[in-house]
Amino acid sequence: MTRSIVPFAALAAFFLTAAEQTQAATRAPPSSNKRQHSDPKPNVDWDSFGFSMNGVRTDYMWLNRVEAQEGDDVMQLTADYSASPNDCLSEFGTFQLSPAATVLNYGQALFEGLKAFRRVDGSIALFRPERNAERMQNGAKRFLLPPVPTDVFVSAADAVVRANSRWVPPFGKGALYLRPLLMGTGDDLGVKPSWESTFCIYCCPVGNYFKGGLKAIRLQALRGFSRAAQGGAGHVKASGNYAPAFFAQRTVKQRGFDDLLCLDAATGNLIEEAGASNFFAVFPNNTIVTPCLHSETILPGVTRASIIELAVRECGCTVVEGPIQLSDLHEACEAFCCGTGASVTPVGSVSVAKIDGTEDKEACVIFGDGSTPGPITQRLYNTLLTIQTGTDEDLNQRYADWIHVVEP
Ligand code: PLP
Ligand code: COI
Repeated sequence: MTRSIVPFAALAAFFLTAAEQTQAATRAPPSSNKRQHSDPKPNVDWDSFGFSMNGVRTDYMWLNRVEAQEGDDVMQLTADYSASPNDCLSEFGTFQLSPAATVLNYGQALFEGLKAFRRVDGSIALFRPERNAERMQNGAKRFLLPPVPTDVFVSAADAVVRANSRWVPPFGKGALYLRPLLMGTGDDLGVKPSWESTFCIYCCPVGNYFKGGLKAIRLQALRGFSRAAQGGAGHVKASGNYAPAFFAQRTVKQRGFDDLLCLDAATGNLIEEAGASNFFAVFPNNTIVTPCLHSETILPGVTRASIIELAVRECGCTVVEGPIQLSDLHEACEAFCCGTGASVTPVGSVSVAKIDGTEDKEACVIFGDGSTPGPITQRLYNTLLTIQTGTDEDLNQRYADWIHVVEP
């Protein structure tokens, strides 16, 4: 690594602590014209990783702090995010924020999540990164943050994967999870959108979101708790949507459940989604139902959209995007959740309780034996993973546009 680091060092000096600046100055981002990705880092226990930082500090992150401009449209801020990897890749580390930053004071922040997989042919690929870019743009419009254009988002994600390729787990052992952030970092006490926006992508190798691989999870819905209401921002991947659910999430985990099932705010009887994944129920005659997005209270998952297509095209299912009443679950043969972190996770049972823990026994449902994935769930899991990891030539060709190969 002998490239000039002048622009990188200048940026680093702005964001990193003194100790990190010294480190960063000795290490330039890797060249993008290497012919091969690094092999996975040796002596790493990839199998031990869950969905967390796993005690790992990857090598580089993307950091681009730009001034927001008022555009012709007063409801749409703009910014020039078009900086080179040399300017934006810095060693993974901390950066400084004013206590007056809008992200800290008013929660002006969005995040994304996408995965890079090491594929069977040795290549590394991102799964549908354009979809994450588009979702972040929609969120940016709602939060009056200047949107990051799709090409900038995808090439930043691409650069982060390339720079951290030794952290992409070996084929079949998880993925490198990318976490893009977009936030208002300008200092202004005024209750208004920030004059400055920061686009950052960091990454971490991860294993399963839920422990136990394809073992079915147990969900509990809490009556009286809802994640989002109509007119709110439940359809936006806003950072502020998550902490308000920590309490409910911990409540159900303390009771031995794996995750929270969120019910609608209006009636408390409709299923919306799990804590960090979308929900599907499989009914007789291979009819799959997932809550529709019209209410704008559910996150439009990239995996959800992919599963809807795969269920129709690869499993011959009929997919309905419509309401699922809690009582409908008694008719379902299978249920599963899906998301970038969660992949496809079978649901073994749904419990419904009050916040105080009193269970509504009549509403509780067990799918199959409560632990083995149903056949449709298993097939969708296999198909998704096959496409992501490139192990079937026919699927590779038919879903080539879902795969963004990161060139070494
Ligand atoms: N719903 C919520 C609340 C989430 O946080 C996520 C995860 O991102 C999803 C659904 C699934 O979305 P995706 O498939 O894009 O990861
Ligand atoms: C993801 O699955 O990518 C998510 O962002 C969900 C989450 C871990 C909050």
